Amino acid sequence: MKSHVWRPLFVVIGIVVLILLARAFYVPDDFGTHERGYMYSYHRTGNIDEWKAYPVKYQGSEYCQSCHEEKAATMGASPHAMIPCENCHGAAFGHPEDPEKLAIDRGRDLCLRCHAALVTPGSGRSYIPGIDDRQHNADIECSVCHNPHNPNLAEM
Ligand code: HEC
Ligand code: HEC
Ligand code: HEC
Ligand code: HEC
Repeated sequence: MKSHVWRPLFVVIGIVVLILLARAFYVPDDFGTHERGYMYSYHRTGNIDEWKAYPVKYQGSEYCQSCHEEKAATMGASPHAMIPCENCHGAAFGHPEDPEKLAIDRGRDLCLRCHAALVTPGSGRSYIPGIDDRQHNADIECSVCHNPHNPNLAEM
């Protein structure tokens, strides 16, 4: 065969060899389980333990109950029962040591992200009663009238 056929072939072989060499250096030892190729384990197995050690920032509402029993009881019997405490107060990682207190946001936006009336109802969110920010007691904090832990005025 002529060299114009061989030369590009050598170039291709060279590139493949380079890739295999680079791979040997750069792919970590614990990548994949090497049993059935990388079919189900296209990751470093060591990464599993790294994520297990990662501190969980959200503690869940049960965590709050032991210390804020009254709040948990009030909310548990209200229409807001299914909302996790941390949805409004932020992640409780480290609380009550550090931070000693969690954030209290009294802004209307906190409530409006769930209660702003939908322009196009029909989504799964539309069963939550909506209000018009500009019509419904504008500029007054919602918690002046509604207890955020039990917003139903009839039961206040
Ligand atoms: C081990 C007990 C403990 C646990 C568990 C706990 N807290 Fe607290 N929390 C405290 C203490 C103590 C304070 C500071 C004193 C206070 O204001 O009641 C505090 C303060 C707060 C405050 C601020 C109160 C204020 O007046 O500024 C909020 C909000 C709060 N916690 C929410 C939560 C939420 C939500 C959870 C669950 C994710 C939680 N806490 C879990 C003990 C706890
Ligand atoms: C819908 C949002 C929302 C949820 C859910 C929520 N909170 Fe609150 N929380 C607030 C707001 C707003 C305030 C401030 C109330 C005020 O100024 O009257 C507050 C105040 C507090 C305070 C301190 C002030 C007080 O009234 O004593 C604590 C403690 C607290 N919440 C704990 C909790 C716990 C525990 C849960 C879960 C059981 C929870 N919150 C769920 C919005 C929420
Ligand atoms: C994470 C979403 C969410 C947030 C944030 C939220 N709510 Fe709600 N709210 C709900 C859901 C869900 C219901 C119950 C809807 C139902 O089942 O009818 C509800 C019910 C209500 C009701 C109707 C009670 C009744 O039955 O008449 C009022 C009033 C209310 N919320 C006020 C507030 C106020 C004030 C805030 C802010 C402090 C707030 N909500 C924040 C989801 C939310
Ligand atoms: C000045 C007091 C006051 C303030 C401030 C206030 N509300 Fe209300 N809200 C009421 C009263 C009274 C009702 C019951 C009568 C009605 O439906 O208008 C009500 C009803 C509601 C309802 C039930 C509507 C329905 O169709 O069942 C929701 C949801 C609600 N408010 C959310 C909010 C949110 C969110 C804020 C803050 C952005 C807020 N409210 C601020 C007094 C207030």
